[in-house]
Amino acid sequence: MSKLVTLVSEGAGKIDPISVAAYEGVGGYEGLKKAVGMTAEQVIAEVKKAKLLGRGGAAYPAGSKWEHLLHIPETPKYIVCNADEGEPGTFKDKVILGQLPLKLIEGITISGFVFGAKAGYIYVRGEYRKIQKRLIQAIENAKKAGYLGQNILGKGFDFDIHVISGAGAYVCGENSALLNSTEGKVGRPRIKPPHLAEVGLFLQPTLVNNVESLSSIPAIVLKGGDEYLRIGHPDSGGTKLICLSGHTAKPGVYEIPLGKITLRDAIYDPEMGNGLKGGKNLKFFHLGGQSGPIGPASLLDTPYSYTDLRKAGLSVGSGAIVVMDESVSIIDYLIGVTEFFIHESCGKCVPCREGNKQLISVLRKLAVPGGANETDLANLRRLVTTMTAASFCGLGQTATAALNSAWKHFREEFEANVTKTAAAAA
Ligand SMILES: Cc1cc2nc3c(=O)[nH]c(=O)nc-3n(C[C@H](O)[C@H](O)[C@H](O)COP(=O)(O)O)c2cc1C
Ligand code: SF4
Repeated sequence: MSKLVTLVSEGAGKIDPISVAAYEGVGGYEGLKKAVGMTAEQVIAEVKKAKLLGRGGAAYPAGSKWEHLLHIPETPKYIVCNADEGEPGTFKDKVILGQLPLKLIEGITISGFVFGAKAGYIYVRGEYRKIQKRLIQAIENAKKAGYLGQNILGKGFDFDIHVISGAGAYVCGENSALLNSTEGKVGRPRIKPPHLAEVGLFLQPTLVNNVESLSSIPAIVLKGGDEYLRIGHPDSGGTKLICLSGHTAKPGVYEIPLGKITLRDAIYDPEMGNGLKGGKNLKFFHLGGQSGPIGPASLLDTPYSYTDLRKAGLSVGSGAIVVMDESVSIIDYLIGVTEFFIHESCGKCVPCREGNKQLISVLRKLAVPGGANETDLANLRRLVTTMTAASFCGLGQTATAALNSAWKHFREEFEANVTKTAAAAA
């Protein structure tokens, strides 16, 4: 029996992505039709029962976020979809945006209805240029079909969706930087609090959710929260789009039921990763993007759920699974990760701006036989602690997640090139 499911990805690659009729043919817009006959509270009750955790990386419970926003009296409220997808190794939102844009549009429209919003924004990664055009065409077609624009489904509900293009900065995926960038400001993170639900886009109450989170809403409304929960893990319902890359034999995006497959299934099952290229052995996997943890082969039997991965010191994050074979040096890999963070640090705060540069200078010493001493190793540990605790936003706080987990599992590679002091050697 197949371990894969098609819930969010139903119709992906099989239908004309911008055709409303084709989307209706795979059950499209049934969720919206049901939602407009419900109250906002009823829709949110289903999202809460579904235990949908935010699919953008932070795994925040969507139901609680929605409930909080509902109780804020100020209007207008805005819906913002985070389609920045800047996390390396992550390309699952691209599948929805490119192959099923109407599912996302339906999910955003349901949330617009719930919050009485008049406008939604999709902030799309700048590199997805072709996809942006397709998204705009899909929005136009939804309007022509009466699913967007004025008096949607004859319910007196007006709602429009605008597409905004990012310019390629990873930090703009952080929700407050994303709102600044959407407003035309420099894409740097804001001080929080105030919470974005209260003071968000144009200083108004705002919902920010990821593409996959919002695209899960039609199925939750249609099937009901209990059924959606049952498909996945008791702590986190439904499915997850995972992205396999690196030395996997079959890179791609696969939809899996949360908690019902293991990491080993994802990497080795013929329907998913089908092992490693050239039949090589796995050395480690890197989960959730560059900001996520690294795990060794001994953790392959961990079930792929938010709870189980967290217990094993791992995390779902964005859904990325970068597979690395036995030929890869941990230190060289971490140098690549840190180069990424140096490039993407927005420079606003010292722990991240300077910390990443200091990290790479120590890592480069560790890559050379006899290049580092024990003080370097101690400095590495101090940098990790300081950057995690003192960086202003999630970028700097998580830049050391890979290093920290690699330290736990591959300590001997950090120590291999360290010259011991006479006292320590004695
Ligand atoms: C540096 C950084 C980059 C991020 N990039 C993304 C991104 O590309 N897409 C995304 O959905 N969330 C990203 N996030 C998480 C968002 O801040 C936010 O948690 C998310 O959009 C909320 O939606 P969700 O609850 O549906 O996941 C990023 C966070 C940080 C700190
Ligand atoms: S941690 Fe600081 S420097 Fe790094 S991206 Fe965030 S605000 Fe910018």
